[in-house]
Amino acid sequence: MCGIVAYVGQKNAYPILINGLKRLEYRGYDSAGIAVANDNLTVIKKKGKVAELLKVTQKIDPHGTSGIGHTRWATHGAPNDVNAHPHSSRDGKIALVHNGIIENCDTLRKALIKLGHVFVSETDTEVLVHLIQEYKTRYRVPLEESVRLALEKVVGAYAIVVIDQDEPQKIVVARKASPLVIGLGNDEFFVASDATPLIEHTKAVVYLQDEEIAVLEPGKKLAIKSFQNEPQKPSIVELDMKLEELEKGGFPHFMLKEIHQQPETIADCMRGRLNAKEAWTRLGGLEPYLDRMAKANRLIITGCGTSWHAGLIGEYLIEGLARIPVEVEYASELRYRNPVINSGDVVVALSQSGETADTLAAIQHVKEKGALIYGIVNVVGSSIARVTDAGSYIHAGPEIGVASTKAFTAQLTLLSLMAIQLAKAKGTLHHAYYQELIRELSEIPNKVRNILAKDEVIKDIAETIKDASNALYLGRGYNFPVALEGALKLKEISYIHAEGYPAAEMKHGPIALIDENMPVIVLATNMSAYDKIVSNVQEVKARKGMVISIISEGDRQIKELSDYSIEIPKTIEPLTPLLSVVPLQLLSYHVAVMRGCNVDQPRNLAKSVTVE
Ligand code: F6R
Repeated sequence: MCGIVAYVGQKNAYPILINGLKRLEYRGYDSAGIAVANDNLTVIKKKGKVAELLKVTQKIDPHGTSGIGHTRWATHGAPNDVNAHPHSSRDGKIALVHNGIIENCDTLRKALIKLGHVFVSETDTEVLVHLIQEYKTRYRVPLEESVRLALEKVVGAYAIVVIDQDEPQKIVVARKASPLVIGLGNDEFFVASDATPLIEHTKAVVYLQDEEIAVLEPGKKLAIKSFQNEPQKPSIVELDMKLEELEKGGFPHFMLKEIHQQPETIADCMRGRLNAKEAWTRLGGLEPYLDRMAKANRLIITGCGTSWHAGLIGEYLIEGLARIPVEVEYASELRYRNPVINSGDVVVALSQSGETADTLAAIQHVKEKGALIYGIVNVVGSSIARVTDAGSYIHAGPEIGVASTKAFTAQLTLLSLMAIQLAKAKGTLHHAYYQELIRELSEIPNKVRNILAKDEVIKDIAETIKDASNALYLGRGYNFPVALEGALKLKEISYIHAEGYPAAEMKHGPIALIDENMPVIVLATNMSAYDKIVSNVQEVKARKGMVISIISEGDRQIKELSDYSIEIPKTIEPLTPLLSVVPLQLLSYHVAVMRGCNVDQPRNLAKSVTVE
């Protein structure tokens, strides 16, 4: 949430900042702003997207070789010009951008008001920049020391970048529980909330650690200290990312590109981890912990949103195949409970971004209970990847569309590999079934390709539901979490209210909603509960609901009962979600486009939810 960029070096900072903000816009787009240091500090900020900011900055064309920028997802105060970042100190000499929340900002604001400070915005960030200036003038210390002193008083989560007109060729950055990456150039430094804006400038980066402050000055080495003022050795990492991964590649939206990338991303997730011919699976991250996990009393899978849905499918997979008890819990609940977790348990944290505040906090919360913590993460080097004891990357590549698609199927692929490997270690599967699972998993990318080829059919169906106000998604067994995911995709990008339910639960309440205006999307591919699904479809039709069914190729019975059907290739039941979710992603996408919604940047949402 919120994107931060900064530059200090020999080049003109302004274009670097604007490009960086465009790359980071998926993190929040309520407002955007920049501050560039020249003879004085030029601060320009605007409500709305970076395009709105550009209309103003183009006229001013600020010049200067250092600057900071921000794209905002509002927490404290409405999205408007005044609350936009950067925020300035009382004397206008210091400017600051911030991602996170300062929890004790009211107390700090009152204390500063007593000292004569006047605030123009409603933000917590403005309080922090005033506090920094207060220490700078009171103790006559360099910027970094005044930042350190101010942060001693702050409670909360933050990544900040500070610039000072008195020392214009210096940038000070600090973080606690919000991500920040420093790019090392040729006598220059770049800063960003994640690596995406850095890749076009440098591949050498340093991930700032929690409670560290860094001073960036061209001509000098990167200087990092802990909040306790102890020097830290920077650990330089080489980025493994290509610029073209951050472009739309000819698609109208990132979301559509990412849906269409799934045959490759699923294959990438399996690469080197599955061999269909020799019938083995091997997750390198799992191997050293295989015994401990296989013998675990219980796995507790945690995450948020789409990652939580993947976790629910993980429960079906791991319990079904490896016979290890699994619980799935929202990270936002786990972090505030006093759960019974002990050293015999394993906590599996699922996160695309690796930065979700609730998931990170849940990990910290359960850490001292002695359980092994295993991360399943997409973004390499992210906070969750670093705080977990062990883990596996899903290798889906950068996911830019706010609605998660390719990360979800990569998470399912990883969880399938994990379940199969655990099952093998525990000896819970017949060899023939084990071989079939591996063979079928290796076929999934081709089968996804087959579904993607039906895009036009799905688009026609989208036309029939685009004006609906509500929609119901029903699924049983492995398809129940897919129903939840399908409903989430529709509501988050098209703003149609949608609910996902286990199909059998329909008669315990939701059936009351069904009439001729209610599209009911039924995931009807499970062979094990086929007759029951047929009954559910009949129940919907009896109430005049419009049935859109996702069926296995060749299924005539449900096709005839349905108003519309999308046929998907057959697979074995535990792997069904990898296929059945794909038409739902495309359906949501087309409905949202037809309704004129901003598919990649839905209102009120942000990609990386780094605040509570
Ligand atoms: C939905 C979506 C969100 C995320 C959730 C967790 O399309 O993207 O629900 O799944 O915010 O994010 P990660 O996986 O980054 O922890």
